[in-house]
Amino acid sequence: MNTRADQLPSQSLSQPTVATAPGKVILFGEHAVVYSRPAIAVPVTDVKATATISPGEPGSGVWILAADLPAPDGEPGGHRYRLRDAPADDPLRASVELALDAFRHGEPAGDILVTITSTIPIARGMGSGAAVATAVVRAIGRHFGHDPQPDEISPLVYEVEKLHHGTPSGIDNTVVAYARPVFFVRGRGITRLSVGAPLNLVIGDTGVVSSTRQVVGDVRRRWSAEAERYEGLFDEIGALARLAKSAIERGGPKAVGRLMDENHELLMTLGVSSPELDKLVETARMTGALGAKMSGAGWGGNMLALVEAGRTPTVADALQAAGAVSTIFSQIS
Ligand code: PMV
Repeated sequence: MNTRADQLPSQSLSQPTVATAPGKVILFGEHAVVYSRPAIAVPVTDVKATATISPGEPGSGVWILAADLPAPDGEPGGHRYRLRDAPADDPLRASVELALDAFRHGEPAGDILVTITSTIPIARGMGSGAAVATAVVRAIGRHFGHDPQPDEISPLVYEVEKLHHGTPSGIDNTVVAYARPVFFVRGRGITRLSVGAPLNLVIGDTGVVSSTRQVVGDVRRRWSAEAERYEGLFDEIGALARLAKSAIERGGPKAVGRLMDENHELLMTLGVSSPELDKLVETARMTGALGAKMSGAGWGGNMLALVEAGRTPTVADALQAAGAVSTIFSQIS
């Protein structure tokens, strides 16, 4: 890891170090992005993960307090554990250890408590895992006197994402670490995406928890059995992401909305939508959204509606009446 000219003096243990990271949604190209087609994702700053490094008991070593995240064994949040007692594949342990290896430069880790809180819904396609890991890596770096840059954070978070998802494309760690809209192609780094006119999104949560690993695995099985058909679908989705990039850059929300509708149809054909997602997408369209689609791995989680400014409360109310357990409004600019 590079030592940068902007190194900060090591933080005093008496001063907590705090870092945050936003949630995210995928606007175009989920699943196809795993097969190297382009995708577009944007940060959602209305929700966030926060990591705080504070002094621990003398001689205690490194402890983790996951204030509102489930425990490694699936128990609900509020648990506190010693780093070295957690399973090696615990994502919080991995985040802390990767950051310590990268940033402590031979200094002892010391006696610290890493407290993690998050307002990002878990397992709903909003990048909760990537955001928690990003906040932890950023906070540990700062604690050891170095404010890590997105290009340093993203590869470390990718390693943690592998524990969550198996074979992630890398889009989540990228959009969350850079905290800006990205046009992403696996293995090629990011292309900056400028947003010509603000995009008003209503994000509707089906309340259905879904495992990205399972959905991605299911698509892979079907792709293995019928490669030609699925490659064709991925090509179509990738083409939509390219068209969407131009539409977003020139500030054409109507075109972006139409492309979202088309992307949703292709995700239905891919077999990753669900009755709950389809109902919310249909409701958003009937209430005047410019376009709507599921977002993330699917089978549950969130959908997105692109709406004209001023219509967001109407669409949000309709989504709640149609079964959304919560709605988030986010303006992307
Ligand atoms: O559900 P999420 O936010 O973890 O998104 C998964 C996106 C996929 O394209 C389905 C997988 C990936 O690694 O990109």
